[in-house]
Amino acid sequence: MSNIFITGGTGFLGSDLICEILNSSSNHIYALVRARNITHARRKLFNILEKLSQPRGLNRAARKRIHVYKGDITRKNLDLKRNDLNKLVKTIDVIFHSAASTNLKSPLKKIRRINVNGTKRVLDFALLCQRKGRLKKVYHISTVYVAGTKICTFKEKDLNIRQGFNNPYERSKFEAEQLIHRYRKRGIDISIFRPSIMLGRYKDGISTRFKMLYQPLHFLSFELIDTLPVIKEGKPNLINVDIAAKTIMLISQMNHRKNKTYHITSPDALPLSYVLGMASKFFGFKNPRLAPPNSIDMNKDYTPVKRKIIEPYLPYFNYLTKFDMKNTLDQIKKTNFVFPQLNKKNLYRLFKYCDEVGFIKKKRKNVVEK
Ligand SMILES: NC(=O)c1ccc[n+]([C@@H]2O[C@H](COP(=O)([O-])OP(=O)(O)OC[C@H]3O[C@@H](n4cnc5c(N)ncnc54)[C@H](OP(=O)(O)O)[C@@H]3O)[C@@H](O)[C@H]2O)c1
Repeated sequence: MSNIFITGGTGFLGSDLICEILNSSSNHIYALVRARNITHARRKLFNILEKLSQPRGLNRAARKRIHVYKGDITRKNLDLKRNDLNKLVKTIDVIFHSAASTNLKSPLKKIRRINVNGTKRVLDFALLCQRKGRLKKVYHISTVYVAGTKICTFKEKDLNIRQGFNNPYERSKFEAEQLIHRYRKRGIDISIFRPSIMLGRYKDGISTRFKMLYQPLHFLSFELIDTLPVIKEGKPNLINVDIAAKTIMLISQMNHRKNKTYHITSPDALPLSYVLGMASKFFGFKNPRLAPPNSIDMNKDYTPVKRKIIEPYLPYFNYLTKFDMKNTLDQIKKTNFVFPQLNKKNLYRLFKYCDEVGFIKKKRKNVVEK
């Protein structure tokens, strides 16, 4: 039995990671939650975990294995109370650092505070745990988009490939990984998981946060955009959040390799045209035409509002870089886990959930569902 400290447990990935830990082990979870007070922290976390545990809900035994701490990764000692800090550094065996700002529009200074300085605070906490306690391993959640604007086959061992960045988010995650390299030299064993774009759960379509692909789909459903500047070959790499969490847990449970990086991506990325085609058919909105980016003048053909909404996502729609996932596949082949395909059935499950909760509503009642 291990004691696992997790940041970002109320987030899209972190909440599913907690569910995976609860379901696949007898480990205890020590969750750092950003909140006004401890009651608020507990409510925030348990509300999400309850939602993800339907229809049965979280049982009492599982609840007993979750210990909630109010804290903030941007503050010294994660803003933990002195007594809690002293207890935690002696207790924690493993750290999962999943807290981050994932806002693609955030300015660099603001996002660095959370993604770089926040990571530094978590790593300083890890150093304390290692010196005073029994810490064995840190897992840092990064993103494959540290590859930035470079078109290549991006390997798990790669980091600095003289890339540019599409936004401050990518740059901040890259800088956080550079920091990891410095802390590895100080003796902490830190492995990195780099997911691609995460969507709702494979098993039931549930999504606790509607980000990335969900946002542009929501906007496109209003039929205000006829043409998207997207190349035919553009393939956003998409993965269900529960599959990402499962893969991360499987690797962390069996793996004793030190300081490794794993790409948590789909082995087969789907063309954007396919995903858009499925979405427009399901929700009943007009499928936008895809046109080569150099044939569209964004200043002329798009209003400033449309541009502001759609532009942050265009680099991911036009993505050509391939992600090598050898380290991940080498580990996964030792298990009986098979990556499920992101096919029509899987996508429709995700869309159905959007319709049910009203995030994107179906336009016509008679649109296909099977
Ligand atoms: N979502 C994706 O498609 C995607 C793709 C690739 C990689 N990733 C990476 O995966 C990780 C998890 O992403 P996600 O999608 O789960 O993000 P998310 O849904 O935005 O959740 C972020 C989590 O971090 C917490 N957090 C933010 N600032 C904090 C602070 N100062 N102190 C303590 N906690 C703080 C948030 O708490 P609150 O509840 O208080 O907001 C939330 O729990 C990130 O490292 C991200 O870069 C995500």
